Amino acid sequence: MKIKVSSGKLEKAKTNAVVSFLYKEDKNFPESVEQLNEALKDKIRKLYKSQKFSAEENSFLVVPTFGEIKSDFVILTGLGSKKKAELDTIRRAGAYIIRKAKELKIKSLTIDLKEVILDEFEQSYMAQALVEGIILGDYSFDKYFTKKEKFEVEEIQINVERKYLKEAEEAVRVGKILAEAQNFTRDLVNEPANVINTIQFAKIAEDLAKEYGFEIKIYDENEIEKMGMGAYLAVAKGSENPPRFIHLTYRPKNSKGEIALVGKGLMFDSGGLNIKTGDFMRWMKSDKSGACAVLGIFKAIGELKPDITVHGIVAAAENMPSGKAYRPDDILKAKNGVTIEVGNTDAEGRLTLADALSYACELKPDMIIDMATLTGACVVALGEFTAGVMGNNQKAIDKVLRISKYTGEWMWQLPFNDKLREQIKAPHADVYNISTSRYGGAITAGLFLEKFVDPKIPWVHIDIAGPAHNTAGWYYHPKGATGFPVRTIVNLILEESK
Ligand code: BES
Ligand code: MG
Ligand code: ZN
Repeated sequence: MKIKVSSGKLEKAKTNAVVSFLYKEDKNFPESVEQLNEALKDKIRKLYKSQKFSAEENSFLVVPTFGEIKSDFVILTGLGSKKKAELDTIRRAGAYIIRKAKELKIKSLTIDLKEVILDEFEQSYMAQALVEGIILGDYSFDKYFTKKEKFEVEEIQINVERKYLKEAEEAVRVGKILAEAQNFTRDLVNEPANVINTIQFAKIAEDLAKEYGFEIKIYDENEIEKMGMGAYLAVAKGSENPPRFIHLTYRPKNSKGEIALVGKGLMFDSGGLNIKTGDFMRWMKSDKSGACAVLGIFKAIGELKPDITVHGIVAAAENMPSGKAYRPDDILKAKNGVTIEVGNTDAEGRLTLADALSYACELKPDMIIDMATLTGACVVALGEFTAGVMGNNQKAIDKVLRISKYTGEWMWQLPFNDKLREQIKAPHADVYNISTSRYGGAITAGLFLEKFVDPKIPWVHIDIAGPAHNTAGWYYHPKGATGFPVRTIVNLILEESK
């Protein structure tokens, strides 16, 4: 699918359809739609009235032109209420439009942004959101179907005012890169554990490093042991697939700082000896979502080349029960020397992250962000669509939260406190991998991670257990992996590099 920027009159558009937006509150057509309506001898208004078109989100008024203009269809699409509209409204509309176009078998579209008003946002911002929505909404993981949906939209023109052409072109370029990186993450998460195991994951990271010229170091089980990563190693022990510790580095010439990204990389989480029951074990191929997000983010920065050093760290493992598996009551020692008593082998993510975060701190970056499908408790607290954000530095947390408002990746802070800190005291070691209370589980997991982070380094923990994967899909996310929070983190990196 080619996506280009244009600035022209809609009646003259050469694409198969032209698409215009309407808010619920709009009493009149935008000027450009008025002109189309004139060219079509009032057909748009007549249909608009007879259909009582109300411009709800994801609603369409499809008007055939019968050759009166070059395009075969004029399509009005609703944006819902203007009061509620935000950048993500446009992003969602992009997804709805591409799906509608596929349904109607329309090969090329001109989508008009010229007269859309959205708070303080210039047309280039809207163009970027639109492109992101189109590419994200067009995604499906269909490689294993022997019969595939064949129809593809071939070309999309995004129509903006002439004075915004240049900025919109750049915005469209960035939007494409972001959405394609997110789709790359989705592809990896959607692959089952019999296809992407630890070794395969490391190979994918290596290929990415080759493609973009990143530095990469992959540590095998012996090296992991030598580094003293006793917590991570314990989690990996039960599986036939050996652990692989991956450290990617993007190092530009004019680096303005250093960020370390850590992604939870459980290729599959069966729970281990504390084995999960059927419904809870399903979709645990997605327990590698944080790690796959790191690779997606690296793909984007490989393309965008920001002036900042970025580390990508993944402790890849598989959590399985077996005669070699670690057990409840085992006492482990992490890389930073902290001892951990195992209360539950299903709280494995924090153990792998303990060593990954210790490793990240030794790099002495200016900021650490970890992304992890860490707790079911976070999903209970915030629902399936919102990530929980925690950390040791309010400024860094605020940065992530602010950017997430624009990317549409919903996030909400969960508060640390000393009362919850008491709940991860272990009977016979420095820290417990479970909490002594059943409440506040997302926060106690965050507080566990805190023990492995140098308090001098600003650190943000994003629990993506809810939004990383969705069996039904929502907005521009088809069912399965979402690629959350690739765009938020890339935007943050871009900001930090300025
Ligand atoms: N990978 C799970 C968390 C998870 C749950 C992710 C649901 C996505 C959807 C994690 O390893 C886990 O099992 N956590 C336990 C922790 C508990 C044993 C303290 C949980 O949340 O139940
Ligand atoms: Mg688990
Ligand atoms: Zn897990």
